Amino acid sequence: MSPVNLKSLQGRKAKQEKFAVLTAYDSTFAQLAADAGIECLLVGDSLGMVLQGNDSTLPVSLEEMAYHTRCVARGNQRSETPAFIMTDLPFMSYGTVEAGLEAARAVMQAGAHMVKIEGDEWLAPLISVLAQQGVPVCAHLGLTPQAVNKLGGYRVQGRDQERADALVNAAITLADAGADIILLECVPSGLAKRVTEAVSVPVIGIGAGKDTDAQVLVIHDMLGLHTGRVARFVKNYMTEGRTVQQALQAYGDEVRSGAFPSAEHEFA
Ligand code: KIV
Repeated sequence: MSPVNLKSLQGRKAKQEKFAVLTAYDSTFAQLAADAGIECLLVGDSLGMVLQGNDSTLPVSLEEMAYHTRCVARGNQRSETPAFIMTDLPFMSYGTVEAGLEAARAVMQAGAHMVKIEGDEWLAPLISVLAQQGVPVCAHLGLTPQAVNKLGGYRVQGRDQERADALVNAAITLADAGADIILLECVPSGLAKRVTEAVSVPVIGIGAGKDTDAQVLVIHDMLGLHTGRVARFVKNYMTEGRTVQQALQAYGDEVRSGAFPSAEHEFA
């Protein structure tokens, strides 16, 4: 089987074939997820919470993101079905185009195939320059955890008409600037559907309903490793006596078939 790459992921949107994304932070889980056929691994700055025990993603450094990307890339390379690796640029590492280029260099040289950055229209100049430099970009919109202090908590975004329209326009602007994938977190499912139809690039959802082109979950969440409140959009696949490998397989299968997410995981 040919390895997953940006073009194959983008081609899936045209063919209306959904794909599965899962966070990975270490070599073992990266290889297990890739072996299970998960198409894309996200080295998310959520590692600041689930690995490091912080109450937000803000303390994560660029060096830590590069370190975990190297770990994930090694495990992924050992898989016979390697996944596409996307890495978050951490908080305040891309406030200027120059800083963003340097941060992207660090994680791409560590083994990422794409960078993910959080924000709206202000990201357009950086995305254009990254595109010129050959760096694929995923633009993360909706609930952007690096802005939790500005947003006043981890809340569903785009519930009023004005904010919803602004989010659709931002997605179009960022795709026009060169974003190769859009990620939408915690938005009403109707709004996610609007964005997915408005852009030609794939849209990955988390807490964004069933109509996006792909889904992502934090691996700890889908393996039932919760220490606090469980978000509405999470599904635990470690049920029915499954092994970790079977749970990863079941998640990928349910995303591709459209069985996950169901109405109980959506926001109205
Ligand atoms: O850091 C992360 O894991 C993420 C996902 C929640 C989308 O950005």
